[in-house]
Amino acid sequence: MLNPQTADDTIYLDHAATTPVDAEVLSVMLPFFSEQYGNPSSIYRLGQDARAALDRARGSIARVLGCQADEILFTSGATESNNLALVGMLRPARAAAAASHIVTTTIEHHAVLSAAEALEVEGVAVSYVRCDSEGLVSAADVMAAVRPETRLISVMMANNEVGAIQPIAEIGAVAKARGIPFHTDAVQAAGTLPPRVDDLGVDLLSLSAHKFYGPKGVGVLYIRRKTPIAYQQHGGGQEGGRRGGTENVPLIVGMAAALEKADWLRDAYVTRCQGLRDRLWSRIQEAIPDATLNGPRDPERRLPNNLNIAIPGVQGETILLGLDMEGVAASAGSACTTGNSEPSHVLRAMGLSDERCRASLRFTVGRDNTVEQMDEAAEILAETVSRVRSLAGVA
Ligand SMILES: Cc1ncc(COP(=O)(O)O)c(C=O)c1O
Repeated sequence: MLNPQTADDTIYLDHAATTPVDAEVLSVMLPFFSEQYGNPSSIYRLGQDARAALDRARGSIARVLGCQADEILFTSGATESNNLALVGMLRPARAAAAASHIVTTTIEHHAVLSAAEALEVEGVAVSYVRCDSEGLVSAADVMAAVRPETRLISVMMANNEVGAIQPIAEIGAVAKARGIPFHTDAVQAAGTLPPRVDDLGVDLLSLSAHKFYGPKGVGVLYIRRKTPIAYQQHGGGQEGGRRGGTENVPLIVGMAAALEKADWLRDAYVTRCQGLRDRLWSRIQEAIPDATLNGPRDPERRLPNNLNIAIPGVQGETILLGLDMEGVAASAGSACTTGNSEPSHVLRAMGLSDERCRASLRFTVGRDNTVEQMDEAAEILAETVSRVRSLAGVA
C-alpha cells in the first residue's frame, strides 16, 4: 500500500470542503464506540446511558441555536437536512394536488438545487433568484419572487465557493410577516455567524458537523415547532418518530461537542481566519499582480476564511495538481464538483466568463493554519503559476 500523505506534510487550505476532527471532540466521541455502545432504545442501563448522552447532545445544540431540544432532528449531514427541508415541505402539497412553489437561489449547494430539480419533475414550480456579480442575493429580489402558492423559501446563509454572506435576517423578517416558511443552509456559516434561529427568523436550518471540526456523516435539521413538514424516513420510531434508524450516538455526541466549541471560539476564530486569509491574499497579490478576487469586496459580506481568486491564463485544476505536488491542498470550486470540468455554477451565476471560472481557485483557511503557511503557500502558488504559464507560452 502506498503511504498516505499525512496532515503534517500538508498546508491544508480547503476547510470549506471539510475540517479535521478537533482532538477534544474526538476524545469525547471515542467511549461511545466500544464502551458506552448501548442502543438508545434499549431499556437497560447501557442503553439508557446512550439515551442520556443523546439528550445532552440535543440540549447543547439547542442552546447554541437558541431553540427547544425537540426542534433538533439529527440527520446524516446537510445533504439529508436540505433534502428533507425541501421535499418534506413540498410533498404534502403535491399529494393534495395543490399548486406549490419554492423560492431559492441560483447559488445554492447542489444538495438544495438537485432537490429542487427533483421536485420540479414532480410538478413543483421553482423560482431561482439570481445573485449579483459578487455572489450576493438581495432580500427584495427573494421576496419579489414569492407567489400566493409559495410553500418555502430556501436561501443559504453563506456561499461555499465565494463566501458571500446572504441577508438571512432581512429575508426572515419579511417571510415571517407573510407567513412563508423559511429554510437556510447554514453549513458554511456555522463557525462564523451565530446560527441563532430566532435572530435569523428561520423555520428550518441545516448544519453539517464536519464543517466545524466535528465528524463526517452527521448533521442537524432544526425544525421550528408547528412547521408543516412531512418526514421521509420511516422505521423504528427514533427521533420521536420523525426519522427511523438507530441513532449514531458517537457522531452525534461529537457534533454537539464540536458545535459548542465552535460557538465558544467564534470571535477568536473570525479574527484569526481573517488575519490569515488577508495575509495570504496580500502575499499572492505581491507575487501575482494580475490575480483578481471573486466574491464580495466588503469584508463584512464575505466569510473570514474564504479567498476565491482568478489567475488569468491558467486552468485552476492544473494549478491545483501542481500545488498538491508541493503539499498545498486547495480547491477549484466546491469539493462536490471537483472532477467535473464544468465551470462552477456559482461563478457562472455571478456572470464570470467560462475562462475566468476555469482560472479560479478557492483557498479556505482554518484554526490550525499559521502565518508561515500563508507565506509558503503564496510562494508555492507563484512558482506553480509561473511554471504553468511558461509551459503554456504565457508571459
Ligand atoms: C453549503 C453546503 N451545503 C451543504 C453541503 C453538504 O454537506 P454534506 O456533504 O456534509 O452533507 C455542503 C458541503 O460541502 C455545503 O458546503
